[in-house]
Amino acid sequence: MTVKCDEVIQYIKKFSLKGQNISLHEDISKTKLDHILIDGKRYTQFINEFWSSKQRQGSSIHEISYRACFKPGLPNFFIELLTEEGDTVYDPFSGRGTTAVEAGLLGRNIISNDINPLSKILTKPRFFIPKFKDVKERLCQIHLDTKIKADLDLSMFYHPKTEGELVSLRHYLNERQNNNEEDNLDAWIRMVATTRLAGHSKGFFSVYTLPPNQAVSQERQIKINCERNQKPEYRDIRKLILRKSRSLIRNVKDQEIENLYNAGIKGVFMDADARETYFIEDETVDLTVTSPPFLDVVQYHKDNWLRCWFNAINSEQVSKKITMSRTVEDWCAVMQDVFYELYRITKKDGWVAFEVGEVRGGKIKLDEYVVPLGINAGFSCVGILINSQEFTKTSNIWGVKNNNYGTNTNRVVLFVKGGGGGIS
Ligand SMILES: C[S@@+](CC[C@H](N)C(=O)[O-])C[C@H]1O[C@@H](n2cnc3c(N)ncnc32)[C@H](O)[C@@H]1O
Repeated sequence: MTVKCDEVIQYIKKFSLKGQNISLHEDISKTKLDHILIDGKRYTQFINEFWSSKQRQGSSIHEISYRACFKPGLPNFFIELLTEEGDTVYDPFSGRGTTAVEAGLLGRNIISNDINPLSKILTKPRFFIPKFKDVKERLCQIHLDTKIKADLDLSMFYHPKTEGELVSLRHYLNERQNNNEEDNLDAWIRMVATTRLAGHSKGFFSVYTLPPNQAVSQERQIKINCERNQKPEYRDIRKLILRKSRSLIRNVKDQEIENLYNAGIKGVFMDADARETYFIEDETVDLTVTSPPFLDVVQYHKDNWLRCWFNAINSEQVSKKITMSRTVEDWCAVMQDVFYELYRITKKDGWVAFEVGEVRGGKIKLDEYVVPLGINAGFSCVGILINSQEFTKTSNIWGVKNNNYGTNTNRVVLFVKGGGGGIS
């Protein structure tokens, strides 16, 4: 075991989210320890509230919705613990870019990859935070024609005037992109508009529908409108884009804006398969923090069809590429290749924090499948961190009957390249 690895384990054992006088020399473990046997070897489970599961925790710049995203506290925990400024942090399944943005805020270099091109659209612009007045000015310059119609029926979502504005904005942005004229301001507006397309409050362009990361089909929306006896009202899309822009940047500090900019300029934003990341050189990544697609529980393409339409992305094509494993065996076969790739790109003594939830009502614990995958690839397993909201100091709540580690449980398998492995 490397010295660093030993220190990390001590830190994890004594960690307290509430910051109650943590001292590495204190002889009290604040973390509940457990063990599991995998392939005849004991691995430690560290159970504690390592990061908050509260919705609004962390920087406001994270606040865009994406299906199955993790809370910023999760990458924050590992980035702060395992890296220093200037180190490189990677996420092969980046989603809305929680790891990349958190790493950027903290002055790390970043590599962000996701096979869904929407990921880059949502992630990259937040590294180049514009001035509010510039967004306003740009929006005023874009001609929005309230009379034009979309090339598909969107009348169940939008008032005709809103639809006209939205189609005009879409046309403007896609023209700018096709002519290689899209700048940071356009990209910011595209990102914000993409998050405002449909949702359950007046802050969205659409009539009431499901939350923004789960766009329903046109047929389903017609039913929702009937059931709720509702008709789309006019929404001023310029106003809503400005409101969301202000909200996203409301608590970002000047230093963080600079950190994000520097990370964004040097950053790598890709849309490759996580198994084929040839653009990343050998042994260049200090830390990977990631959460892969879990079996077939989340239908990314269905959830994202409206976002894909707005951005002229062929959602059928994207959906074919997205990993949708029906069985754990299929899933493991894909993830094994991801781990070989992670091993290649990770620096010696570098880390991988691989988050999986509890799938199918807790019946399948993917972390127990992940441990051998990492080890096969060459990593050592430091242990499994189980984050639980329900953690209290009373140790007897950990009885299986009383607590199944809650519903928001994150299970993170931590690996190191080099080190002892299987530490119990
Ligand atoms: C659980 S989500 C990640 C969410 C992310 N942690 C966040 O906070 O937004 C998994 C992501 O994996 C992506 N994905 C699925 N199959 C992939 C593959 N083979 N290669 C790369 N990305 C893939 C999906 O598009 C999805 O965004």
